[in-house]
Amino acid sequence: MTAQIINGKEIVSALREEIKAEAAELTAQGTQPGLVVIIVGEDPASKVYVNSKAKACEQVGVYSEVHRLPENTTQKELIALIHLFNQDKRIHGILVQSPLPKHMNEEEVVDEIDPAKDVDCFHPVNVGNLMIGKPGMLPCTPGGVIEILKKIDVSIAGKHAVVVGRSNIVGKPMALLLLREHATVTICHSRTPNMEEITKQADILVVAVGKANLIKAEHVKPGAVVIDVGMNRPVDGKLTGDVDFEAVKEVAGAITPVPGTVGPMTITMLLRNTLNAASRSAK
Ligand code: GUN
Repeated sequence: MTAQIINGKEIVSALREEIKAEAAELTAQGTQPGLVVIIVGEDPASKVYVNSKAKACEQVGVYSEVHRLPENTTQKELIALIHLFNQDKRIHGILVQSPLPKHMNEEEVVDEIDPAKDVDCFHPVNVGNLMIGKPGMLPCTPGGVIEILKKIDVSIAGKHAVVVGRSNIVGKPMALLLLREHATVTICHSRTPNMEEITKQADILVVAVGKANLIKAEHVKPGAVVIDVGMNRPVDGKLTGDVDFEAVKEVAGAITPVPGTVGPMTITMLLRNTLNAASRSAK
C-alpha cells in the first residue's frame, strides 16, 4: 500500500484565502491586523523563516514589520523594544524569532510580551490557558497539525495518537491539542525504551524530534497517519524530516512530505493568531 501524500499547498492556500477575506473585512472596519517580527543576530535558517513570515503577511493583507537587531544587542534593549510594541496600537502580534543569541534568556524575553499579542503562544499565561482549554492563542505548529488532520478528514476522537518529542514548542502542546480532540495520547522521548513498540500502536503519529530519518517503516502501523514536523538541514543542504519518507510511505495511510506542509501551515497559523488577536482588540 502506498500512502496518501498530504497536499500541503492546497490546504495552506485554502486557509490563507479565508484569512485574507477576514483580514480585509477587519481592515475595512478600521483595524488592519499587524505583526512585528524581531530577529536578533545572523542565524541563517531564522533569516529564511522571518522572510517567509513577512511575505505571507503581505499575501493576506496583514501589516508587518521586521526588526533586525545585531548579535550584540543586550537583553535590556530587546525588552525595551518589546515594551514599545506592547503599547503600539498598529501591532497585534509580536514574534521574537528563536533561537536568540546565547547571552539572552529566552524565557525572560518571552515573559515581557503582552500575552494578548503573543502569537507564538509561548507566554506562560497562554500556555496555562491552553492547558485548561480556555480559548485564545493556539501554538502555531501543533495548531497547524490539527488543521491538517481535520482538512484530510482524519477523525481524532478515540484514536491512539503518539507524539515523539517533548519540546515546549511542539511536543508538549501537540499532546495537549490532541487530548483536547479526545485522542488517547502517548508521548515518547529520548529516554523511552523500545519506542518502536509504542509508535507501532499509533493511529496518528506526530514526530517532532529534530533527527533526520529517525522513524523507519518498522516504527509505523500499516495505515497510520504520519505527520513529520522535523526540519533537518544536513551539511549537503537537502532539507529532510524526522521520518524516512521513502520507506514509511509504503506502510502509512497518509504522510506529510518535508518540506511543504507543516512549515507553511505553521506560518498560516501565525497569520490566524494575528488576525484573531486583532479581532479581539477591536471589540
Ligand atoms: N524558530 C523556529 N520556529 C519558530 C517559531 O515558530 N516561532 C519563533 N518565535 N521562533 C521560531
